[in-house]
Amino acid sequence: MIAAMDISITKAERSKLQELNLDNLPFGRYFSDHMLEADYEDGEWKNVEIKPYQPLLMSPSMAALHYGQAIFEGIKAYKNSNGNAFIFRPLDNYKRFNISAERMQMPAVPEELFMEGMRQLVALDRNWIPSREDHSLYIRPFMFSSDEVIGVRPSETYKFMIILSPSGPYYNMPMRIYVEEKYVRAVPGGVGYVKAAGNYGAAMFATAAAKKLGYDQVLWMDAFEHKYVQEIGTMNVFFIIGDKAITPDLEQGTILDGVTRQSTITLLKEIGLTIEERPLSIEAIIEAYKAGTLHEVFGTGTAATISMIKELRYKDYVMQFDVDSWKTAPTVKKWLADIREGRREDKYNWMQKV
Ligand code: COI
Repeated sequence: MIAAMDISITKAERSKLQELNLDNLPFGRYFSDHMLEADYEDGEWKNVEIKPYQPLLMSPSMAALHYGQAIFEGIKAYKNSNGNAFIFRPLDNYKRFNISAERMQMPAVPEELFMEGMRQLVALDRNWIPSREDHSLYIRPFMFSSDEVIGVRPSETYKFMIILSPSGPYYNMPMRIYVEEKYVRAVPGGVGYVKAAGNYGAAMFATAAAKKLGYDQVLWMDAFEHKYVQEIGTMNVFFIIGDKAITPDLEQGTILDGVTRQSTITLLKEIGLTIEERPLSIEAIIEAYKAGTLHEVFGTGTAATISMIKELRYKDYVMQFDVDSWKTAPTVKKWLADIREGRREDKYNWMQKV
């Protein structure tokens, strides 16, 4: 067990904060003054340090670069109107991190290292939390294999790190989505349910092709029949059909168990909708669109929060939506923002004080 006092802290001599305008930030391009780094060696975690943000020295034979034993999480910190810092549901991300670690044959990270390390790092760089609407401090914990060996086998050494990026919205406009029929993101028995770095790299080819056609992201379909919807880009997806909210279920291990997905399900229930977590086919979506019962389509994710979909294209069939007339997705988005920034009661205890 890593005790809180075992984290050594070296402060940056000078803060880079004044060089940055915290009011108008892209996603994930700037990083705060400090980072956390820990090593896994001889079966235990050691050398836990918070130190100035800096490049890593690595060998060209470092295993993660070759075979992709690398996982990550995305978490956000906010400030309320009193200036107090809070992190949104960090324990849920911690649990998912170790599920990813297990699937990628990597060591578990102890709760105290992840949670207390993150808390101390965010506390040190708390001035980097933006206050502007739709902005936050994006927390990126990650782990990668660090053996200097190119034999294909699980590494014996790993690095766990946390970096912080003050960020604006990931997608700031309603999105146009291309329903992907050829390439797939995940198969049953695969790694679709974990945050393996390679899942994101493997998605880039199809996404680039959709972008050439003028679309922002793809809607992934199941690998066998190309019939059932899975996820949109880096997000889970919800369809409001009639008085129900439908989102793909997690049974097959092809869908990421999103923390924003879980939070959205909770808030949709509070709004009074019936939630169905189940397979949903593209034919059923088109039928509902034609019948006028497909009211809203939106993606959920830590980086993206709630992103409305204004167009879905399947083959040559285009479905368009008047997002300005929607009620549900904007309500969930507002409630989430209000809880995060302290304007709405945090009755589910989602906010952890730093
Ligand atoms: C997140 O929402 O944290 C994600 O995983 C998206 C990220 C790849 C930008």
